[in-house]
Amino acid sequence: MDVKKASEERRSLRSLESVEITRDMIDELAGAASLSPSCFNKQPWRFVFVRSREGLDRVFASLSRGNDWFKAASLVVGVFTAKELDCVVGRREYCQFDTGMAVGMMLLRATEMGLIAHPIAGFDEEAAAKALGVPGEAILVTIIAVGRKAQTLSPILSPHQIEDESRRPPRIPFEGFAREEMWS
Ligand SMILES: Cc1cc2nc3c(=O)[nH]c(=O)nc-3n(C[C@H](O)[C@H](O)[C@H](O)COP(=O)(O)O)c2cc1C
Repeated sequence: MDVKKASEERRSLRSLESVEITRDMIDELAGAASLSPSCFNKQPWRFVFVRSREGLDRVFASLSRGNDWFKAASLVVGVFTAKELDCVVGRREYCQFDTGMAVGMMLLRATEMGLIAHPIAGFDEEAAAKALGVPGEAILVTIIAVGRKAQTLSPILSPHQIEDESRRPPRIPFEGFAREEMWS
């Protein structure tokens, strides 16, 4: 699969069915992320891969309302970083930027592997960080649900979420987020 196709196929779907997660799959996902660029090659991303029943249930207890669909994940990837792990240039703190790029690489590789990898912000950070053993000073940026696209719609989705399953949520057109030559 080329990058264009993977970008087009990647979706944050919520109707997931279980898939067996092997250590090789985890290595593939981590390996793709680790090839990401970073400021001074600092590689500030940190991942916790959770696939045991007890570990998953611990993370699921931290989910916010509306994210119960996440409980169908076969693998959860906890993503954290810290300011000290990356460059700070004036107002620019690169840890979350570089970690986000690495996650982007991981999502594309997951897509290529036939998986759904859906990152979320809707969780209690303190509870999720505790469940994942994330150090206190670190920032838990996201947790990612990984599974297989289900053939049938999850019965617990809201009307809005059901709409998102059937078509990609609309994107802002070029003029809304980009300019040629100068912004203004
Ligand atoms: C940082 C971040 C936080 C998100 N948080 C949630 C969330 O809490 N719950 C949810 O259902 N989806 C969440 N999403 C998924 C977005 O809603 C989704 O990416 C967006 O609607 C675009 O859809 P697409 O990824 O299928 O193109 C999040 C995505 C990102 C990148």
